[in-house]
Amino acid sequence: MIRKYTFGNPLDTGAVIQNVPEVSSLNEFSKTETEKEVIFSCKLNEKDKIYGLGETVRGINKRGWIYESYATDDGIHTETKKSLYCAHNFFLIGSDKPFGVFADAPFKVIFDFGYTKSDELNMTFCGKDFKLYIIEGNTPMEIIKSFRKAIGQSYLAPFWSFGFMQSRWGYKNAEDIRRVAGAFRRNAVPLDAVFLDLDYMDGCRVFTTNEKDFPNFPSLVREMKEENIRLVPIVDAAVKKEEGYFVSDEGTAGNYFCKYEDGADYIGCVWPGLTYFPDFLNKDTRNWFGAKYKIYTDMGIEGFWNDMNEPSIFYSQKKLMEFLDAAEELRKKDGDVDSWEFFKLREDVNTLWDYKEFYHNADGKKLRHDRVHNLYGFNMTKCAAEGLEKIQPGKRFLLFSRSSYIGMHRYAGIWTGDNQSWWSHILLELQQLPSLNMCGFLYIGSDIGGFNSNATEDLVLRWFALAVFVPLMRNHNGSDRDQECFSFQHLNWFKKLIQVRYRLLPYLYSEYLKAVYNADMMFKPLAFLFSDDEIACETEDQLMLGSDLMIAPVYRQNTQGRTVYLPEDMLMILLSGDQYTCTPMKQGLHYVNVPMHSVPMFLRKGSILPLADIAEHTGGVNQNKLSLICCTEQGHAFYELYRDDGVSKTESLEKIEINNKNNTAECSDKEIKLLLLSSE
Ligand code: GLC
Repeated sequence: MIRKYTFGNPLDTGAVIQNVPEVSSLNEFSKTETEKEVIFSCKLNEKDKIYGLGETVRGINKRGWIYESYATDDGIHTETKKSLYCAHNFFLIGSDKPFGVFADAPFKVIFDFGYTKSDELNMTFCGKDFKLYIIEGNTPMEIIKSFRKAIGQSYLAPFWSFGFMQSRWGYKNAEDIRRVAGAFRRNAVPLDAVFLDLDYMDGCRVFTTNEKDFPNFPSLVREMKEENIRLVPIVDAAVKKEEGYFVSDEGTAGNYFCKYEDGADYIGCVWPGLTYFPDFLNKDTRNWFGAKYKIYTDMGIEGFWNDMNEPSIFYSQKKLMEFLDAAEELRKKDGDVDSWEFFKLREDVNTLWDYKEFYHNADGKKLRHDRVHNLYGFNMTKCAAEGLEKIQPGKRFLLFSRSSYIGMHRYAGIWTGDNQSWWSHILLELQQLPSLNMCGFLYIGSDIGGFNSNATEDLVLRWFALAVFVPLMRNHNGSDRDQECFSFQHLNWFKKLIQVRYRLLPYLYSEYLKAVYNADMMFKPLAFLFSDDEIACETEDQLMLGSDLMIAPVYRQNTQGRTVYLPEDMLMILLSGDQYTCTPMKQGLHYVNVPMHSVPMFLRKGSILPLADIAEHTGGVNQNKLSLICCTEQGHAFYELYRDDGVSKTESLEKIEINNKNNTAECSDKEIKLLLLSSE
């Protein structure tokens, strides 16, 4: 059951697509109105847990911190931060009488989850036009499923985008791409895609290519595809301001850019220098910008990576001039500058100020940016998805974005932006996975090895052992130290880990399809499956992948393994390349040894883990030959495999039953050859 409460005259954000009955009051919260804000409050019981908020810092249970939903380009994701790149305003209170909340507002919303007072929840809307949805259900999963149905089916990524992908801000030319691709293929390390960061463009101008360093770009795309490697270019939101550059000229002529209040085009600065910002809240702009992706699809490109769409603004021209004038004034003081004057000056050039400077034309409505800020990345990516659908109808493209709002999950996935090569960020990724799933984002992932700071080999190896399970599996960085697996000492260890990913592909894509079609979560906190088990309910460094497999990656340095909690008897599986070991384990706490080249996982009783043979790219995965690891219960184990063609949007879903009864494996699809692996 979902109820909708409307305050003021809100804009349709596009998040909820189901018709929801309207109510005139909410008994879950008390409401306080101030001049500019509306605050909803409720009491929290000692044992209440709070789940959700998608991409945020801290643990799976979000209680005990204050979060601000306001998309922010900030690459230092410490636990003190309140906002990251996205605005995912769904959460649920897990208590005796659980309920879910979706704060549907495009401006800033503050979620104080027991931060000011430990037994109080306060949700502050920094504006007066919004919708508030309350979702009822008996369990967290019931609530999440109802919410997910209300916001519509999640984006379907192509099968190839579940392959391993290599990226780096620093591949400067076509030779770099060939060198990287060549190293993977030469060493038979599986790979499906290489990403192109800023350098493939002509001076960071979107929808161009750099003829000098990437000559004959389409032939490079073809050459790579012959090796079964796809190239995936970055597309930034801002457009270089430059007469004679077609995107700039068309945008100014068509009135496609955001404007100052007086109607002049707003000018900021991002990678290419002075830039315009496409008004993605405007339909004409969306049609225009979305159609531009054809420039790349005509070259054979099948995947895109939308970036800088919070939007990130390094500074605005106007504010910079004011800043320089103020700095000039300070200089006159001849060194005798009060430190506060200096700090104020630094703070003056910030984008928060700029967000109040420009306006959108949302199909006739003039809206100041800060009032609709959280919808920018969503609408950029929606425009790309709609453009791609027009360009090649019915085809699954790879598409993901840095910024997003709930609703964007129907169009694309996300990656979690500029993380760091910190051990704590392995754990952060793990903890973000279920929170993102709750909000509809299923095609997700973080930069393996960390984007900033220099990574050590052991960190990257351990990170890989988590990332083998995560839909978007991409090694990306922008730091000085090379982070490709062949840049370290033990290439063979990395190879074994990446091979595990390819062995798991039928299972992973199956669990992904289940989550898409059943409005389910691919990654669940243990608390959702073992709600009577107090230890399981507090376990935040292990997850359930689907309902049968538990994952527990190592995320600490200088350790041989880790402590794992088993809520029930399970089969521990260690996979490493084509090798495996299986160890039945009893319910309880265990210290498990995990070699650097191995991936630990734990299978529940009565379940089957199907494995493909190793392949060097997704096209080589033989889905009709599966090796089964079974954890039988009274001689029986079962798995329902979801499978489809992996490329088209039209539904080609098959549900295949795999059974193992007393050591005889059977499959409802006779084409599939099964091999029973020894599990004891
Ligand atoms: C941003 C992105 C990062 C990218 C860089 C250069 O920081 O988050 O992934 O490499 O810009 O384009």
